[in-house]
Amino acid sequence: MAIGEYKPGLEGVPATQSNISYVDGKAGLLEYRGIRIEELCVHSSFLETSYLLIFGELPTSAKLKEFEVDITHRRRIKYRIRDMIKSFPDNAHPMDALQTSVAALGMFYPLGDFHDADYIYQATVRLLAKVPTMVAAFHMMRQGNDPVMPRDDLDYASNFLYMLNEKVPDPLAARIFDVCLTLHAEHTVNASTFAALVTASTLTDPYAVITSAIGTLAGPLHGGANEQVMMMLEEIGSVDNVTAYLERKIERKEKLMGFGHRIYKVKDPRAIVLQELVHKMFDQFGHDHYYDIALELEKQAFEKLSSKGIHPNVDFYSGLVYKKLGIPSNLFTTIFAIARVPGWLAHWKEQLSDNRLFRPTQVYTGLHDVTYLPIEHR
Ligand code: SDX
Repeated sequence: MAIGEYKPGLEGVPATQSNISYVDGKAGLLEYRGIRIEELCVHSSFLETSYLLIFGELPTSAKLKEFEVDITHRRRIKYRIRDMIKSFPDNAHPMDALQTSVAALGMFYPLGDFHDADYIYQATVRLLAKVPTMVAAFHMMRQGNDPVMPRDDLDYASNFLYMLNEKVPDPLAARIFDVCLTLHAEHTVNASTFAALVTASTLTDPYAVITSAIGTLAGPLHGGANEQVMMMLEEIGSVDNVTAYLERKIERKEKLMGFGHRIYKVKDPRAIVLQELVHKMFDQFGHDHYYDIALELEKQAFEKLSSKGIHPNVDFYSGLVYKKLGIPSNLFTTIFAIARVPGWLAHWKEQLSDNRLFRPTQVYTGLHDVTYLPIEHR
């Protein structure tokens, strides 16, 4: 392997062939199974989009109904997993709690036959159904409360918001949240999806695959950025402080959270839709001055950073929607995880259909034939 072929971070290196989603970083375009994300946000739902991503086609109304009912009936978690979550420290990060909880699923649902379509379907439904329940259960229990039982009469988005505070959400708020989930559902071979692919290629169980992906998503350079953006806007505090803050970040060569992307060299199309959702939220539920700070920051960052292809990404505006929904910022990345489960599962299924173990090579830069030095001579 010549050193010239080595690409740090595998930048620009195809790691798989896939027909699940497509990103055009120059045009700022994202398609799920060929359908533009903007179309799905207007006409589809998160579960219908999940079905499209995982099974490769839009479902008939009967198939969608069956999928929704199967997921609704699998929302509950085993009491042993609930009791395990109860033992977590109250100040644990919700992403650590979620990763641990999903890993535990593998102990209750034994590895099956990957050639059995029903095994794939059951694992898919189970993960889509239980991940929101786990996030909400930890959130309630870290406050010393019993978890809220899922409600079968509520749709996917409404039920998750309900489990966070036992209040049935406003239908518009639930619809906006559902669109946020669709926006975050899939994004080709990003870091957490790549982690899922590598884990899947060893033929381990799907819970281990999703556990790998959750751990990867948690990082601040990836899904963890949405929580960092909220902390950044709070730190800036007012529109007047934006100039000084931005100058300081650039001076210190520190990355601006919620900006930049390995693929997008224009504004992330998801950020554009999320901004529209922010306006809808504010029209209905009142303004939030953090949005003014975000707009000013985007304006000034454009002047200073757009020449390097650095623009807002999906994480820049998402937190403003979640905050307006009353969701604490340290749950933001777990919401990204809930949303990305269908994307990860779609790639898991695709990898299994033509599997080859991921085992790349390296460019060795170390020594050879080194003599072992006894400890007394070191
Ligand atoms: C997600 O891959 C995906 O698809 C991910 C995702 C998905 O849906 O799965 O889209 C979700 O993770 C969005 C990204 C969320 N992360 C952040 O917002 C964290 C801040 N962003 C950066 O860390 C960064 O932009 C990355 C990690 C997202 C991408 O970085 P790259 O491709 O590795 O780019 P780089 O670090 O090589 O930077 C290239 C140049 C550098 O300048 P020079 O040293 O060449 O002068 O751009 C600069 C960087 O300093 N740069 C930034 C910047 N991002 C890149 N400068 C200031 N602020 C930034 N945010």
